[in-house]
Amino acid sequence: MKNGPVRIGIIGSRFQADCHAASIAMIEDAMVVDAVASPTAGNAKALAERYKIPRVYTDYRELIADREIDAVTITSPNALHCEMTLAAAKAGKHVICEKPLCVTLEEADRMIEACRANGVLLLYAEELFFTPKYVKAKQMADLGAFGKVHLVKQSEKHFGPHSEWFWDTKRSGGGALLDLGCHGIAFAYWFLGRPKMLTVYSHLGTYVHGDKTQADDEAVTVVEFEGKAFSIIENSWARRGGMDDRIEIYGEGGLTIANLHMGNALPTYSEYGVGYAAEKAPTTTGWTYPVFEELWNYGFPQEMRHFARAIRGIESPQATGEDGKVVLEAIYAAYASAGLGHKVNLPYVPTRKLPVDEWLDRRN
Ligand SMILES: NC(=O)c1ccc[n+]([C@@H]2O[C@H](COP(=O)([O-])OP(=O)(O)OC[C@H]3O[C@@H](n4cnc5c(N)ncnc54)[C@H](O)[C@@H]3O)[C@@H](O)[C@H]2O)c1
Repeated sequence: MKNGPVRIGIIGSRFQADCHAASIAMIEDAMVVDAVASPTAGNAKALAERYKIPRVYTDYRELIADREIDAVTITSPNALHCEMTLAAAKAGKHVICEKPLCVTLEEADRMIEACRANGVLLLYAEELFFTPKYVKAKQMADLGAFGKVHLVKQSEKHFGPHSEWFWDTKRSGGGALLDLGCHGIAFAYWFLGRPKMLTVYSHLGTYVHGDKTQADDEAVTVVEFEGKAFSIIENSWARRGGMDDRIEIYGEGGLTIANLHMGNALPTYSEYGVGYAAEKAPTTTGWTYPVFEELWNYGFPQEMRHFARAIRGIESPQATGEDGKVVLEAIYAAYASAGLGHKVNLPYVPTRKLPVDEWLDRRN
């Protein structure tokens, strides 16, 4: 077993790569970034300069061959997660994979099996398991503060993704339900102690962004769990006014609510705009809610510290490829239910290649 900080190679160099690099910079005793790889050499070089990352590659295979690296984080478009995980596992590198785990259940199985066979961890980067406010809600629930919890609500909404590949279902696998609902489904599953999911129902539509995608830009999903509990998950790529992420927890003896952004923000008015401080808002003039300490409030550095400790064998992994697969299966069933117009039982065996096709093929 190696000691010292886990040495990371980041695959990808834009939005989530920056989030990983910035979060890892906050936990230097546990993890350091040694290299970055992306075909957009300019972005990778700029990321390397911002975070003093010593090595830059244009081909992720070169990064995987880098002998100094213990693990990779995968922050590339969804449809590339599987091939990158398989290559990293084969080279004996642990894998931290962004959400969604991948775009098909068959890929999920191959990723889990490749990591198992090569004796490396497949860690699933679901930060909501580490978000301090949400962790506090779970701690209270686990202590019995709300009695038996029967309803977990989570919603994540904004006005749509920043990169063009998200809108192309072949590269993303789906719309708001897949992109954002994977957080909510994972959250409810984790919050309730990973009970079996029994049924899923989703209402989906393309209400605002039909000019650039076939995918859903509004989604409401209901998941029923074993043990008389359910969750309502709301997602949107059509919400004006920046990012919204919140939970509500209801039990027979109480409730708690947490608003991740509005509750950790500065109500602000500006005629001139506040720039990036208001995430995913097409404009930042007028009233906005800039978040402070966003990475910490979201739990990204805490997540990376846990992953470092899991890789060093100090903690058992709390967010794994298996979690990512359970979530993806529920998403397939949710898309199918929207296409069929009724709820769908789990386990669900996909009938289409990509999750979103379960809905699109049946829509007309
Ligand atoms: N956990 C979260 O809250 C969160 C937030 C945003 C994105 N994500 C996930 O992170 C992943 C990346 O999203 P993003 O927003 O950073 O997208 P992005 O478009 O900002 O960045 C994608 C990066 O992948 C790189 N890339 C593309 N093809 C590549 C290849 N063949 N080899 C190496 N790199 C390649 C691009 O050059 C780019 O740097 C997605 O899976 C997304 O769902 C997660």
